[in-house]
Amino acid sequence: MAPLLEARRLAKNYGTLRAVEEVSLSLEPGEILGLLGPNGAGKTTTVSMIAGLLAPDGGEVLLMGRPPSTNGAAKRALGLVPQDLALFDGLTAEANLRLFGALYGLGGPGLDRAVKEGLAFVGLSERASSRVKSFSGGMKRRLNLAAGLLHDPSVLLLDEPTVGVDPQSRNAIFDVLEDLRSRGKAILYTTHYMEEAERLCSRIVIMDHGRVLAEGTAPELASRLPHPTRLVAELRGGGDGEGWIGEVGKLPGFSRVSIEGGRLGATVENLAEGTSALLAFIASRGLELASLETQRPDLETVFLALTGRELRDA
Ligand SMILES: Nc1ncnc2c1ncn2[C@@H]1O[C@H](COP(=O)(O)OP(=O)(O)O)[C@@H](O)[C@H]1O
Ligand SMILES: [Mg+2]
Repeated sequence: MAPLLEARRLAKNYGTLRAVEEVSLSLEPGEILGLLGPNGAGKTTTVSMIAGLLAPDGGEVLLMGRPPSTNGAAKRALGLVPQDLALFDGLTAEANLRLFGALYGLGGPGLDRAVKEGLAFVGLSERASSRVKSFSGGMKRRLNLAAGLLHDPSVLLLDEPTVGVDPQSRNAIFDVLEDLRSRGKAILYTTHYMEEAERLCSRIVIMDHGRVLAEGTAPELASRLPHPTRLVAELRGGGDGEGWIGEVGKLPGFSRVSIEGGRLGATVENLAEGTSALLAFIASRGLELASLETQRPDLETVFLALTGRELRDA
């Protein structure tokens, strides 16, 4: 059976800039797919093409196996929560949702119900009659999310929904998304926050410079790294490594050596060789080893290895 949503080799140029060169992805019901990439990677351009807001220069989007343009019902199955807030500051929360509902063709008791449920779903019922200009960034994001859900779409496209959001609203948004997933909705979650992708998404597509660099679950992506292991040794009497930390960096196969509060970290090419070299070094220096652990690489390490770029909030 065809996936619920499929993007095939999407491409988009802005003048001479190839914003999206080739992006393919697919989405099944009950799945949160992470679209992860740094600022400028081409995420918003990709989402805009999938949402039908931007015509691709190449490739195609299929919704339930068919192009959305020839399939009005399929198009209404899509909900978009854009990166730039699409709210009217001077109107109340409820009036904003009524407006969006009308745009989606809702009216009468159906619209009343959708607006009421939408406000409750994102925890804004008590602020229904407040003007949006009095809202915090997090409340605006939540209202934006409710607006994208009014017509009960089966595919939800979220473009950086937690930028500028306080932790409480962020958790509220995550709860809403997990609820939607458990009800079989398909969610495309665009973010440049590693930990969000790791926490929420069953699969992750990593993109940069308009191309997909890797795809898989977080552990799958991590296991593809050639230098996967990080050693963390807790040392007594080692202080801040003054006088010897540089030597650790020169041990064969060692990189990214760090020390903080007696915790020594190093990425090693080979676990067995790295461990024995480190233990020998610790003994030769007369340091006391309190604990030694190995860490699988996290998504951040994977991202750095793939793109050469840090993915920290810019
Ligand atoms: N309307 C536009 N006109 C020209 N360049 C654009 C436009 N929108 C985006 N870009 C450029 O396209 C690239 C991809 O942008 P975007 O899709 O917004 O990336 P992301 O969402 O991953 O940050 C960037 O280099 C950006 O500057
Ligand atoms: Mg963007």
